[in-house]
Amino acid sequence: MLRVKKVLILNYQLLSPIHHTFGPHVNRSYMSRVLALSYAPWAYRNGKYIEMLRTELANKFGAPVCLFASGREALFAYLKAINLIPGEEVIVQGYTCVVVPNAIHAAGGSPVFADIARETLNLDPESVDKLINSRTRAVICQHTFGVPSDTAKLREICDRRKILLIEDCAHVLPDRNGPEEIGGYGDALMLSFGRDKAISGITGGAVIPRNPSFADSLGSLEKQAVDLSWWEVLKLLEYAPRMRMVRNLKWTGFDKPVLKILKSLNLISLVVTDEEKKGFQSPLLHKIPNVCAALACWSLGNLEKTNDHRRQITNFFLGHGLKHGWPVLKGIKPGLPLQKFPLFVHDAQGKRKSLKKHNVYLDDGWTGCVVCPETVDLPSTGYEWGDNPEAEKACGQILSLPTHPTMTMRQAEYLARQIDTLL
Ligand SMILES: Cc1ncc(COP(=O)(O)O)c(C=O)c1O
Repeated sequence: MLRVKKVLILNYQLLSPIHHTFGPHVNRSYMSRVLALSYAPWAYRNGKYIEMLRTELANKFGAPVCLFASGREALFAYLKAINLIPGEEVIVQGYTCVVVPNAIHAAGGSPVFADIARETLNLDPESVDKLINSRTRAVICQHTFGVPSDTAKLREICDRRKILLIEDCAHVLPDRNGPEEIGGYGDALMLSFGRDKAISGITGGAVIPRNPSFADSLGSLEKQAVDLSWWEVLKLLEYAPRMRMVRNLKWTGFDKPVLKILKSLNLISLVVTDEEKKGFQSPLLHKIPNVCAALACWSLGNLEKTNDHRRQITNFFLGHGLKHGWPVLKGIKPGLPLQKFPLFVHDAQGKRKSLKKHNVYLDDGWTGCVVCPETVDLPSTGYEWGDNPEAEKACGQILSLPTHPTMTMRQAEYLARQIDTLL
């Protein structure tokens, strides 16, 4: 009996796709929380969980917390609070998400793209230092895919040049076991509770001003934020069961037509809208919905477990990769809770394509683009081709492997064998 059960589980795991984007946080317990929350439609938008999340985060980081409907809105609110004026510049890295430069534009500033260090996929401090001038107000450092940025060096540069350092912690949140470089150096931290982030409330974001000068103006901006529509929140909640369905349908091929129909009926809330791909961010700030705060709060309570799971898969890929001659990035150290495990390979796109035949889907929107996703209108972001040669090279060669909460060790072992044959 036990044997039959084992075989069934094994087959189910291999039938279930390996992926980045089909609800990476949506496991059984996540689903049951979504279901429980969906029975109280009067509490979708407002309720006790918003303050609960704020308290949990404030206790964790020891600073005030402002909550918004997404990380991009939280970043925009902070840039508004520091009173960015037209012509002032904010340095960001090449190889980032379009919503980051959009938030800078929306706040009236200009993004300036600094190149990355290839081995970490993060800001190269030297490149940052060279770009600072009298118009520079801040540097945003992103801990790409959970690889820690060189925050100590960036802090030293920002102090010397008297500008602000904002840590973009969308991809990783530290726990008791680190990473120590993350979360303690920025004048402000930006968090995202998006679908594939460190923790997930399906949507949501926070800004934590460690430097108290801007906390009051941020607080008033949060008070002025408006509710998302009830319908929009329902669509967000629907994300969890929809992704379970997509995962179950993937091997049949029916997932695509089903998704197409849902999209055409406007039943899906997009991660990056067409306007955002053209460089536009709405100046309207929204409150985090109560149900999303509830999920983010629960996800935060599980942070250590989630990070340990990511650490286990990272360590496995790292050990296996070094043994089998994979081109492992030098910035990846054992014990990092990576959001995904990046490799540089020849013909990354071709490899992703051939992996699809094995039920492996590694498209994640971070391939072939310095300002992601690939369908972004690059000129409207302020990036000029040739600005960041390392970022341009890296984004063409990147192949990232999942480490998320619903990726199992068995799937990691299967994927590692597939990568061995491809390399
Ligand atoms: C590096 C980075 N920063 C910020 C954000 C914005 O987060 P959100 O999706 O919550 O707006 C994202 C994701 O979209 C991101 O990848």
